[in-house]
Amino acid sequence: MKKILITGGAGYIGSHTAVELVNAGFEPIILDNFSNSEKSTLSGLEEILGREIICYEEDCNDREAVEKVFKQNQISGVIHFAAYKAVGESTQLPLNYYKNNIDSLLVILECMSKYGVKDLVFSSSCTVYGQPDVLPVTESTPRKDAESPYGNTKKICEDILSDYVKSKASVRIISLRYFNPVGAHPSSALGELPLGTPNNLVPFITQTAVGIREKLTVFGDDYDTEDGSCVRDYIHVMDLADAHVKSLEYLSKQEDHFYDIFNVGTGRGNTVLEVVQTFERVSGKSLNYTIGPRRPGDVVKVWADTSKINNVLGWKAQYSLEDSLRDSWNWQLKLGAVV
Ligand code: UFG
Repeated sequence: MKKILITGGAGYIGSHTAVELVNAGFEPIILDNFSNSEKSTLSGLEEILGREIICYEEDCNDREAVEKVFKQNQISGVIHFAAYKAVGESTQLPLNYYKNNIDSLLVILECMSKYGVKDLVFSSSCTVYGQPDVLPVTESTPRKDAESPYGNTKKICEDILSDYVKSKASVRIISLRYFNPVGAHPSSALGELPLGTPNNLVPFITQTAVGIREKLTVFGDDYDTEDGSCVRDYIHVMDLADAHVKSLEYLSKQEDHFYDIFNVGTGRGNTVLEVVQTFERVSGKSLNYTIGPRRPGDVVKVWADTSKINNVLGWKAQYSLEDSLRDSWNWQLKLGAVV
């Protein structure tokens, strides 16, 4: 069974990807320092899979620790999720973000080279597009200057990967540009565990509905969109997980020195108010919300052109926004009103 190292594998997207890797016949090996994840995620994985997954509690920037994992396991590929991801925090602590997100990628690439591991899937983000001039965005839509140090780390990491492949390094790499991940495992054994007050829309909605937060503030209703609120492409985390499996399978058939980029979204945009209304419908709860001022740095609208990933990887989103919000809500009900 091919062993796949998943850095940040106890995190939100990483843990769901571990499930899909097992379902596809791979053996995931998690490396996570639990700085933004919980040990309970490993129990959730065990509940779904009926067995334990190997997990190293190590920091991805700790070269010796990462090397130990490569030395002890015959790794065939890596999915590199581990990174800091809070946009606002990155403007306050830019050096932490550059150091953590860039150094860890370099450690992974160097270990891959030393241990002869060729295949890498990297977590990038639609943040690299900023506010695109033309919608939907394709992979060849020009990237804009990053709005935050976090966004810039994703751009820089993409550039490192492309330069590395151009150097004729013996690797095969895919960057996946995620749109907005939402939802949870349909069993409710896994889901998102935001630390403190959520920045993201869907966990804020579910925490409000369950009584942890008093009300949701919709950041602006005077944008140039259908109902004035911002538009995003909300992608179910299980679909996103499956995109990683498809990427690894595709990489294994490529020649060396391969690099490509894929958008991972549904191809549909939804406004914040549509998300709120859909949530109310699937949960049967009426949500306490108000309209507030715009959030600085917010992109007005972005959604993906998914033709490339549909055609090349044979991947297509299977879950609807209703499915995503139902699964997020069931997960919140399982967590209860505990922060
Ligand atoms: N929103 C609210 N109220 C809230 C939270 C969010 O109205 O309490 C709105 C935002 O203004 C935005 C939409 O909901 O219009 C989605 O916001 P999120 O914070 O959930 O997601 P973003 O699109 O802002 O950010 C996400 C990821 C980032 C990534 C970015 C790329 O969280 O990591 O997409 O565009 F950089």
